[in-house]
Amino acid sequence: MKVLIIGGRRYLGPRLVHALLVRGHEPVLFNRGRSNAPLPVDRPVREIRGDRNRPGDLASVVEEESFDAVVDTQAFGADDTEPVVRTLSGRIGRYLVISSVACYGRLLRVPADETHPYTDDARAFPGGGNDYAVGKRDVEQIVLAAHRESGFPAIIIRPSVSYGYGRLFSVWGYSNRHVDRIRKGRAVIAPDTGEGLIQPVYIDDEAEVIVLALETDGSLGEAFNCAGPVAVPLWQYFRAHADALGLPVEVVEIPAAFLGGFDPMRCTRASENLVFNHAYDVLKLKRVLGFEHRFGLEAGLAATIAFQDQWHLIEPSEADDPDDRLIGAWQTRGNGDPAALGEQARRACGHEPGPIPLTPWAPDHYRPAPHQVRPDGEPRGPRVK
Ligand SMILES: NC(=O)c1ccc[n+]([C@@H]2O[C@H](COP(=O)([O-])OP(=O)(O)OC[C@H]3O[C@@H](n4cnc5c(N)ncnc54)[C@H](OP(=O)(O)O)[C@@H]3O)[C@@H](O)[C@H]2O)c1
Repeated sequence: MKVLIIGGRRYLGPRLVHALLVRGHEPVLFNRGRSNAPLPVDRPVREIRGDRNRPGDLASVVEEESFDAVVDTQAFGADDTEPVVRTLSGRIGRYLVISSVACYGRLLRVPADETHPYTDDARAFPGGGNDYAVGKRDVEQIVLAAHRESGFPAIIIRPSVSYGYGRLFSVWGYSNRHVDRIRKGRAVIAPDTGEGLIQPVYIDDEAEVIVLALETDGSLGEAFNCAGPVAVPLWQYFRAHADALGLPVEVVEIPAAFLGGFDPMRCTRASENLVFNHAYDVLKLKRVLGFEHRFGLEAGLAATIAFQDQWHLIEPSEADDPDDRLIGAWQTRGNGDPAALGEQARRACGHEPGPIPLTPWAPDHYRPAPHQVRPDGEPRGPRVK
C-alpha cells in the first residue's frame, strides 16, 4: 500500500514509517516541515509539505496522486476533521485516524472495551485534558457517521499513553529523570496513593497495530483500543523500572493537589489525569487483527532505558532536584489546603513551573544502523510478555 501519513516527524510517525517499510508498504509523509525528528530508516522517505488545516493543501495532494490509505495523526476536533473527511471521501481505500482512549472520559468500568460510552459532562476530566477527550470523541463521531452514511473507509485507533525509545513519562510529564533517581537510590513520586491504573503501550506495538489495521478488511468502520498487555497501578510502573534496572525503588505518595499547586504545568497530567483509572480491554486487537504484544511493561522499559543510555538521553538527577524539594516541602508542610500549600512550597523554594516538551522518538544526533530496515522486511522476532 502507498500510505500518506499526516504528521510523521515527531514521535509516532517515525516508528510508523519503520513499521510500514518492514511490511513492504510505501510511506509518504505530509507535514509543515517544522518538526524534524530523524527517521529510523536507511533510505529516503518522500515528504510533502503542507498544512492539514489549510484549505486546499491536502486536496491538491490527493487530486494529483492516488494513495491506498491515509493515516491521520493530527485530528483533534470536529473543526479539523470534517474538512479532511470531505476532501478524502471517494479518493482513498482507508482513512485511519489516531484517536485516544481519552474519548471515554473517566471510566464507568474497567477494563473498558470498545463499547464503553463516550465521555460526557458527568465524566469529564478536570482541567484542559477534558478538551482533548471531547475533541477526540468528536473526531470519532464524525468519521463513524461518514462511514455509516456513505461508506467512508474509516478505522479508529485509540492509543493509551505510549512510551519507548526517547520517551518516558513521570509525574513531571515527559521526563525520564526518575531513571537516574532510581539508579542513585533517590525516591520517586506518585500522585495520591499511586493506585491510578495505567496501561502504557510500547510505541512499536502501537505502530504494528496501525499497520495490521490497514491490512485487515474487517477493520473498516471499527475502533480499536491500543494499550499495553496489562494495566498496572502507577506505583507498579515505577517498580517495573526498578525491576528492569535490577534495583529497589522508594515511591513517595504526595497528594495530587499538592503536586498541581507546586508545578501547575509539568505536573498537570499527574494531578489531573493519572489519579483516575486507565485500563482497557485489548482482546479485539487479537480477535480482529491477529495482533499479539511484543513488549510487556518490563521488557518495554528495559528496551527504552537501553536506548536512552545508548543515545545519552537520561536526564541526570542532582541533589536539589525538584523532586527532593517537593518531597521535602510535603514532609514539612503545615496545615491547609493541599493546592495552596503546594503553591506556597513552590514560592518558598523558587521552583519555576515550565512547559512539558513533546520529546521526539529519538534525538537529532541519532543515526540508524546500516540495513536497519531491509527491503524484504525483517524477520518477526519472538514476542516478549
Ligand atoms: N503520546 C501519547 O501517549 C498518545 C496517547 C493517545 C493518543 N495520542 C495521539 O497520537 C497522536 C500523536 O501523534 P505524534 O505527535 O506522535 O505524531 P507524529 O506524526 O510523530 O508527529 C506530529 C507530526 O504532525 C505534524 N503536524 C502537526 N500539525 C500539522 C498540520 N497542521 N499539518 C500537517 N502536519 C502537521 C508535525 O510536523 P510539522 O509540525 O512539521 O507540521 C509532526 O510531523 C495524536 O493524535 C495524539 O492525540 C498520543
